[in-house]
Formats: sequence, C-alpha cells, structure tokens
Amino acid sequence: MNQETIKYAKRIDKLTGSAIREIFKYANVPGLISFAGGNPGKFALPVELVAQISHDLMLKKGNELLQYGQTEGYLPLRESLIPYLTKTFGVNAKLSEVLITTGSMQGFDLMLKSLINPGDAVLTESPAFLGALQAMNAYEANIISVKSDSQGIDIDHLQEMMKRHHPKLLYIIPTFQNPTGISLSLERR
Ligand SMILES: Cc1ncc(COP(=O)(O)O)c(C=O)c1O
Repeated sequence: MNQETIKYAKRIDKLTGSAIREIFKYANVPGLISFAGGNPGKFALPVELVAQISHDLMLKKGNELLQYGQTEGYLPLRESLIPYLTKTFGVNAKLSEVLITTGSMQGFDLMLKSLINPGDAVLTESPAFLGALQAMNAYEANIISVKSDSQGIDIDHLQEMMKRHHPKLLYIIPTFQNPTGISLSLERR
C-alpha cells in the first residue's frame, strides 16, 4: 500500500523517527564497540540456561503456555511476584494490582494512556530518556524540561515549573539517570 495515501491519525504527526532504533543499527556492526546503546554484553546473556528452561516448560506446560491466558499475565508468575515485591522493594501488592507487561515501557505506555490527555503538561529532567519522550509525544503530552545539573533535577526550577504548568506527571530517574548516569543527591530527594 502507498504510504502517502494512508490517512494517519493526527497524533502520528507528532512522532518522529526513533533515535534508539538508529543507535541499535550500529550495535551489531562487526568490530565496532558502540557505547551509544545500553546493550548487555553477549557473555551476560544466559542463552543455554534459557533454552533449557524453555524446552522443559514447553514439554511440561506447553498446552497451557501456548493457549490464550489471562490478560493480566500468567497467574503463577503474578502470584510469585507478590512475595518478591515485598522482599525486594517493600511493596505490599494485592494480586489484583500485579500486571505483567512486556518490559517497563509497556507499563509506562499504559500509564500514559490512562493519565494523559492531549496538551497535558509533563515535566521531565533535562536531558531525559529518549524512549520515554517518544511515548509521551505519542499521547500528545506537553513536555516541559526542568533544569538539571550534576546533583540531578533543580528543585527550585521544578517548583517554578510546577506552579506555572500544573503538570500531570514528573518523569524522573533518581538513580543512574539515563542518559546522564547521574543520581539525585540525598538532599534533593
Ligand atoms: C530509563 C529506561 N527506561 C526504560 C527502558 C526500556 O525498558 P524495557 O526494556 O523494560 O521496556 C530503558 C532501556 O534502556 C531505559 O534506559
């Protein structure tokens, strides 16, 4: 089909190419060690272990796994996450609050879908993670940068921007921020 004849939704005008996809094109160039994307080294990927586990699971539970299931995710996995969340993050979640997503970006996308109307203000650090900016653009958020320095986000500027724009959200990565690697100082936290 001719792309030019397709009448895309207006929000698609807001989408630009993905810088992340551009970066990843270079990640597999032989002989090139790219520091642009945060890919784990090959040695860190447990290929054989995952192959073995997948093989065992298919033989034992193949019918269940390949069948339609609950939209919220595989029940035994959701149940097992409840004690994990308490132990690891001190979060006491109920089963009805646990939803399996395909990575954090799907969770972020669902959250934006639930909260953001076109034009709603969202504050971000500057610079901010490209993937998050693209997701916010797709929901036509009004993205407003807050000044950041070597200690993380600038609290005075944040307060000023909050008063001025009444944002729906602040998007912030307080520990090892992407792309700067900065952690928000204790005082600012
Ligand atoms: C800050 C940040 N958020 C989200 C993601 C993507 O996470 P996921 O693969 O879980 O969707 C990345 C990946 O680099 C990231 O750096």
